Amino acid sequence: MNYKACLFDLDGVLVDTAIYHFQAWKNLGKKFNYELTEEQNEQLKGVSRVESLNKILAWANYTASETQKNAWLVEKNEEYLRLISNMNPSEILPGVIDFLTQIKALGYQIALGSASKNAEIILEKTGLISWFDLIIDGNKVSQSKPDPEVFLKGAEGLGVAPEACIVFEDAQAGVEAAKAGNMRAIGIGEAETLALADKIIPNFVGVNAVDLLQF
Ligand code: BG6
Ligand code: MG
Repeated sequence: MNYKACLFDLDGVLVDTAIYHFQAWKNLGKKFNYELTEEQNEQLKGVSRVESLNKILAWANYTASETQKNAWLVEKNEEYLRLISNMNPSEILPGVIDFLTQIKALGYQIALGSASKNAEIILEKTGLISWFDLIIDGNKVSQSKPDPEVFLKGAEGLGVAPEACIVFEDAQAGVEAAKAGNMRAIGIGEAETLALADKIIPNFVGVNAVDLLQF
């Protein structure tokens, strides 16, 4: 297969924002006396804002009105935006720029496929935005990962067949989305959480793109 495009998740693949999401959700949980754990936060990776809140409320066994939920979603995001307000290029994960440099030189198209509605802000703050031919984020999709919509829109927007796309993901839901879209999936992180991925690497440090993108 002649692969043509690389589609990147944002949070946990290019930058480590999970810690900021965790902090903001944890603080919100205090409103209904719920202490969110790190294991639960792992299950929120790749999951949209509204679905994350629904999961947390279900874990807390707490029923909230739609009005209350909407107010909490705004509050959580306001805190998240405060937490990421000072993000800068130093928060790009190790090896990422070198890997992007390699794939650009190899002629791959590069797109973002993220559930986050804050993706562009983060790409701008970190200076990553100029690497991308296309950005598909949470504002452009109606279905959350593991639905493949975000990646299929990426492939379509780039004019590339899904089968010619390679997805980089740190979340189980994201790997499932890539596979559901008939794409190759490279998991970034640990084998236990990313079992469905075609390949798994711990991070991009020292990665040779030609070797990695060979299937
Ligand atoms: C994903 C994160 O990238 O974006 C999730 O892994 C997050 O944790 C989701 O909930 C939505 O992000 P945002 O920025 O729109 O709240
Ligand atoms: Mg992620």
